Amino acid sequence: MGRARPHLFRSDDERSPVERARRLALQAASLARLPRPVAAFWVRAMRRAQAEGDTWSIDVACRPAELRVLLDALADAPRIAEVGTAAAWTTCCLTLARPGREVHSWDVEAHPERERYLALLSAADRARVHLHDRPGGLGPSDPPPVDAVFIDSSHELEETVATFRTWQPAVSPGGVIAFHDYADDAYPGVTEAVRELGLQGEARGHLYVWRKPR
Ligand SMILES: C[S@@+](CC[C@H](N)C(=O)[O-])C[C@H]1O[C@@H](n2cnc3c(N)ncnc32)[C@H](O)[C@@H]1O
Repeated sequence: MGRARPHLFRSDDERSPVERARRLALQAASLARLPRPVAAFWVRAMRRAQAEGDTWSIDVACRPAELRVLLDALADAPRIAEVGTAAAWTTCCLTLARPGREVHSWDVEAHPERERYLALLSAADRARVHLHDRPGGLGPSDPPPVDAVFIDSSHELEETVATFRTWQPAVSPGGVIAFHDYADDAYPGVTEAVRELGLQGEARGHLYVWRKPR
């Protein structure tokens, strides 16, 4: 029997066919509105994942609609930290969205899938990606100065609070810390963390955006 072709919807997705069609149309429209190098990367990554039967990388990566919101929130930040690399799709998208941008990404595990997608970058773009493996859930004790942070890691309350507290001093005035999967019933820890931190930010769909005062 042939292997099912991996697609955008997770195996436990319970959406009706009509709702799926609506989501696909939204993702296609969002893809078309992403910066061209980002959209081109995303399509190539998706094709490669499908060719390799790599369902996991498709499942964990930000979708085009989420990417649009994220790229807009992070604007032209020249130095970005991502917490939660996974297969590095968003790492690559953040890198390609702005020429010259340096992207540092942390993960507790060096997921081997990431090399497959980092290989889609040119050598010059790949040189702007800096990967940091921190087994044991430890963030950097001395985070480098950055202009924006994207938190997309364990989604657990304690870790999300600790990650914000670690990075907040390292963010430049006017910079942004964005939390993925906010107000999502599947990830209550993110919403609880934002509440516990007492942040005054803005929810943009499932992205919570906090801006550091100037
Ligand atoms: C949802 S995936 C990240 C997806 C990725 N940002 C993207 O959009 O393609 C979550 C990742 O966070 C990592 N992770 C879990 N706990 C972590 C922690 N404490 N610090 C850093 N990364 C962590 C996992 O290993 C996993 O790769």
